[in-house]
Amino acid sequence: MGLALGLGTAAQAVEVTITCGPSGSDVEFCLKHAQAWATKTGHTIKNFSPPTSPTEKLALYRQLFAAKSGDIDVLQIDTAWPGILKDHLQDLKPFSKGLENQHFPAIVTNNTVGGRLLAMPWYTDAGLLYYRKDLLAKYKLPVPTTWEELTAAAQKVQAGERAKGDNDFHGFVFQAKAYEGLTCNALEWVSGSGGGTVVDAQGQITINNAQAAQALNRAARWIGTISPVGVLNYEEEEARGVFQNANALFMRNWPYAWSLLQKDDSLVKGKVGIAKLPGTPSAATLGGWHLGVSKYSKNAAIAADLVMYMTSAQVQKARAMGGSFNPTLPALYQDKDIITANDFMSSLADVFANSVARPTTATGLKYPQVSQSFYNAAHEVMSQRATGEEAVKKLESRLKQIRRKHW
Ligand code: GLC
Repeated sequence: MGLALGLGTAAQAVEVTITCGPSGSDVEFCLKHAQAWATKTGHTIKNFSPPTSPTEKLALYRQLFAAKSGDIDVLQIDTAWPGILKDHLQDLKPFSKGLENQHFPAIVTNNTVGGRLLAMPWYTDAGLLYYRKDLLAKYKLPVPTTWEELTAAAQKVQAGERAKGDNDFHGFVFQAKAYEGLTCNALEWVSGSGGGTVVDAQGQITINNAQAAQALNRAARWIGTISPVGVLNYEEEEARGVFQNANALFMRNWPYAWSLLQKDDSLVKGKVGIAKLPGTPSAATLGGWHLGVSKYSKNAAIAADLVMYMTSAQVQKARAMGGSFNPTLPALYQDKDIITANDFMSSLADVFANSVARPTTATGLKYPQVSQSFYNAAHEVMSQRATGEEAVKKLESRLKQIRRKHW
């Protein structure tokens, strides 16, 4: 692609590589705005399309960083990562001119390590329950508030729809592949059953408890009953595919799914409601993505300019309107256009305000191992290779090994 010449800036124009994608709306809304910045500045954009799974994305970034590679300038950084990638990201404070102070303070704190602002807040996430309004009405069922209610409703509607000949219909789809997304789902089941957050804020390993074991056992009973066995290999987009094709009653997913479910080609357009996840108390895992600049970028100041543009109110509003990505700027939650397009952003404000963080702060650089051990334990239970009780006991010893003397 040619440079945006004709601006008389060819001598300074550079190519900036950003990680947009690879899934549908991420590519669309990330690249569209990055291109708009390029047109405005005369620089060019190159996309480095990363794997969908955050677990694989992180592994790839770590390889590139180990080689001090300047191949990627601007990186999408998961909420769970600033502590892990702290040595490889630029401090954005010299470029941000204090604008980070307009974003949610908790996210800025999350993204600041040792006084260095490692990523500008871009969008925030929390786990949500998507449901088919039309089907709950047809079967005269309320929106479930406990996992038991969800299970019973899913059984009833699945049996009813299958009896009518819809053999591909399922009660509940979610993310249960062995990857970071399962950590997010399983944390919701465990924490939403009073079983804690695997490791608590003080660094104590808390996972070996009866509530956690029962929460995993309950999820295991969904497999092959109200959920297809295939969920054991589902990420977000696989779950959305099934739900959007009108083949499921309930889905656990993040806010981005909302706008895609409302598109003209969606078989469930106008038939979907969103509620807080079941649980006592309901727990939604905190997620979200931010933009950082690689320490090995050859054009850090220009890359930082792109980051500031991409995280600006103007771009966050467009992304919220078109892609239902939750802004990180509190002011945008008063914006009428955004509220009209995404009613759930205001009606579920308490879900976003009270979402449960993964134990990243307490476990620091060891978080990837902690998460991997947790999702593997959950996956074992769900694939009938261990009971919940066995799995949480084994996980406790594994986490002790990882921790050794300290996190
Ligand atoms: C979403 C969340 C992110 C999380 C991921 C898990 O993208 O924003 O925080 O790690 O899902 O799949």
